[in-house]
Amino acid sequence: MAKAFVVGHPIKHSRSPLIHGHWLKAYGLDGSYERIDVAPVNFGDFLASFHERGFAGGNVTLPYKEAAYLGVARRTERAQRVGAVNTLWVEDGVIWGDNTDALGFIGNLDASLGTGWEQDVETALVLGAGGAARAVVAGLQDRPLKRIFVANRTLAKAEDIARDLRPGSAVSIETSPWEALGRVIPHAQLIVNTTSLGMTGQPPLTIDLSRAPRNAVVADIVYVPLETPLLAAAAAHNLRTVDGLGMLLHQAVPGFRRWFGVTPEVTPALRAVILADL
Ligand code: ATR
Repeated sequence: MAKAFVVGHPIKHSRSPLIHGHWLKAYGLDGSYERIDVAPVNFGDFLASFHERGFAGGNVTLPYKEAAYLGVARRTERAQRVGAVNTLWVEDGVIWGDNTDALGFIGNLDASLGTGWEQDVETALVLGAGGAARAVVAGLQDRPLKRIFVANRTLAKAEDIARDLRPGSAVSIETSPWEALGRVIPHAQLIVNTTSLGMTGQPPLTIDLSRAPRNAVVADIVYVPLETPLLAAAAAHNLRTVDGLGMLLHQAVPGFRRWFGVTPEVTPALRAVILADL
């Protein structure tokens, strides 16, 4: 029986067990996926011992994505670009780490908009410059866009992302001060919120979408609530919208495939399971 985990601290809020549990049942697999809460002093030991304890691998969530990046023996090229690891497995006796948030974001756009969506996107605007923004930029950079603007309240963090992800990038990565968003929005066919604004309990993200291109897509990675104030504003401007739940579901696909040997599908039934839990 293959076993996998999600490790974090705290861990009780993780929805990953619901996703992987749904797939294990749907595909009739003899496997398990469990939550593991590990205190910071013990994370190194956990990483060194999970395979001996019978786990094929697992997911890493807050606050350990950077520690996992530093602790694994091998990383995928994508994880190197993002500087964080959220998926672990063992191959040829060593621990590997990948970052599937980037794939999850892009996989969700492919599923929501149809493959080829990037043909209509010359410029993307990413709002925010935390770990999620890094993954989104790393994902977008694999598609043939012309340029990506990263805008953040604290501009220096946007500049860090641009500096780290620019080397070897076919897509130009630029930054924009938050106050200058109005100059970028009219050129952006894809606008992505990666900030915490709009989450339940947080202030809304309010940007002026009136001058966005008419074919623009507005995506939010916040999924509680599913319809954020940003997405509601985009819909009011007749812009296409992509909600954040799909990214969460799609980022889980590569891990499940590695641990359990089946490529799972993101279905309406899976979405309904998570929606019922929000
Ligand atoms: P994550 O790793 O999930 O991306 P994070 O690192 O905490 O989370 O990043 C949160 C993002 O939301 C940051 O870009 C943050 O902007 P700063 O870098 O300036 O802090 C952004 N954010 C949070 N509250 C904000 C607010 N009131 N206005 C604008 N941006 C905000």
